[in-house]
Amino acid sequence: MKKTLIVANWKMNLSTHEASVLVHRLHQTIPTHRSVEVVLAPNLLVLQPISVEIDRHKFGLAAQNAYHRDSGAFTGEVSYTMLQDLVHYCIVGHSERRIYFNETLEVVRDKVAASVRNGITPILCVGETKQERTENQTKQVIHDQIVTALFRLTSEEVSEVVIAYEPVWAISTFGGEVAKPHDIKLVIDYIRKQIADLYGQRVSEEVRVLYGGSVDDQSAQAYLSIDGCDGALVGSASLNYQKFANIVDTAYRLQHEESEHHG
Ligand code: PGA
Repeated sequence: MKKTLIVANWKMNLSTHEASVLVHRLHQTIPTHRSVEVVLAPNLLVLQPISVEIDRHKFGLAAQNAYHRDSGAFTGEVSYTMLQDLVHYCIVGHSERRIYFNETLEVVRDKVAASVRNGITPILCVGETKQERTENQTKQVIHDQIVTALFRLTSEEVSEVVIAYEPVWAISTFGGEVAKPHDIKLVIDYIRKQIADLYGQRVSEEVRVLYGGSVDDQSAQAYLSIDGCDGALVGSASLNYQKFANIVDTAYRLQHEESEHHG
């Protein structure tokens, strides 16, 4: 059985001290679960100090962003190469980056390729805006985002990628409308179908697909129970250690129930 992956996206929050306090609380509240993988995505500045504070058996680390070139005259940027020894994952193509920082499909594609080239697993975020959903363009948008982003990868590499389906309208930043698990399931199925068509059935089963968008300790159970959903990308609720620990606990409980069910 796949491990459930729960990712905390702290976004541009927490000073080094605040992050350290939060990590301390998370250590106290979250036990080591073999069936759940918990990954923290702090801001770049905090990444290094946090990396020496965390128990690697409990928490993995992700970057929230990096630049696709490995080194050179790119003032202000940090490359995937520089993050190699620090993180296992990097969030790529988050809607806040696509919308606020004008990251195009091609920029996201280059970042996914750079991430993989440097041995970092991309957590590729895809999702439609409210308007695109209203205009029935959800499938087209998801299709274009996935096909372009994975363009430079081999099937083997694609099977390692994590895809986070985050409908823009459901993210707290952009309104945080409550998404119905049934609607999420349809899109997750569609994502797997895309992967199956492009890279084969085996890859589509191996690829991990997460849900993200206002996931908190109240809604986690419903989203994590969706067939084909391998975990969650959590924004605002991940800044509250109790809420985040409850989400991890829910993931663990569901895994446990499922393994008992399968004997
Ligand atoms: P949210 O953010 O949980 O605050 O909606 C999710 C995300 O942006 O990844």
